[in-house]
Amino acid sequence: MSTSITVQPSLAIERVLTIEIVRVTERAAVAAARLRGRGHEKAADQAAVDAMRRELNNLPIDGTVVIGEGEMDEAPMLFIGEKVGNKSGPKVDIAVDPLEGTTLCAKNMPGAIATLAMAESGTLLHAPDVYMDKIAIGPGYPKGTIDLDAPADENIRNLAKAKGVKPENITAILLDRPRHADIIAAVRKTGAAVSLITDGDVAGVIHCAEMRTGIDIYLGIGGAPEGVLAAAALRCIGGQMQCRLLLDTEEKRERSRKMGIKDPRKKYEIEDMVRGDCLFAATGVTTGAMLSGVRFAKDMIETETVVMRSITGTVRWIKAEHRQFEKFHLD
Ligand code: FBP
Repeated sequence: MSTSITVQPSLAIERVLTIEIVRVTERAAVAAARLRGRGHEKAADQAAVDAMRRELNNLPIDGTVVIGEGEMDEAPMLFIGEKVGNKSGPKVDIAVDPLEGTTLCAKNMPGAIATLAMAESGTLLHAPDVYMDKIAIGPGYPKGTIDLDAPADENIRNLAKAKGVKPENITAILLDRPRHADIIAAVRKTGAAVSLITDGDVAGVIHCAEMRTGIDIYLGIGGAPEGVLAAAALRCIGGQMQCRLLLDTEEKRERSRKMGIKDPRKKYEIEDMVRGDCLFAATGVTTGAMLSGVRFAKDMIETETVVMRSITGTVRWIKAEHRQFEKFHLD
């Protein structure tokens, strides 16, 4: 019996792009991994940017970078507004973080990834490179279980109630920063556990939707670009997230106005940050809770990537063995 799959033309292109974006994050991860533990954040980041840009330009897309390495005057490559792709395909918005966790990579610590999200043109939030206040939980809870504007202890208690457990059975993940001292104290006062990460809050948010990590909730302040990337992942796998840009100076408010942000105090839900369907991919650079890092064998390079598609909610874990080293532009 033959099975035929009918998909709308635009979605058919998107299905093909699912595997294509894996190539993009794989190349960036391998480039960065070669510089693991060398103590050079910038060099590792640049290597990942170069590799990601080269591979993106081979894709059959008419893409615009909306979350990238910075604004045009400060980033020569993958800057916000840069056109990428070979123009033969659909118009898409692209959010990239070629090396998420530059310090993790430079120090060869767990959890550095190369990551990218892609969505229909005009559907990803154009977030400036500022801080963002974030709260996130995984799927399966009633809408309104968490609220960015509620105190941390109230969010923990409401989440525990919705999960049917005591607060002692909840684990919150936060970036280990002095600015989070009050939230950490409030969470611990409820009896809940706090899991601290030194960097890498894209994965931190995604952990809330991954049962095996034991993480229930993400709280605190991280980068806004990382917030949009994490929102794209949760749009694919489910979960709730609320965020607000921290625009505490006139210069930041002006910058965000130029990027189309009308209300500087807006509370964003996932659907405000990723307004349509999207793809998300991340490849491990160093081994972390989510992904194995790149492994260099004598005749092979191994990578592990997670790739997600919101239309179907499909999540694929792709372990790849690469034998054509020239594709990675290695010396
Ligand atoms: P980089 O890869 O740009 O260094 O970002 C790492 C990171 O930990 C992000 O995951 C997080 O959103 C942000 O930095 C937090 O910023 P800060 O280090 O200033 O607290």
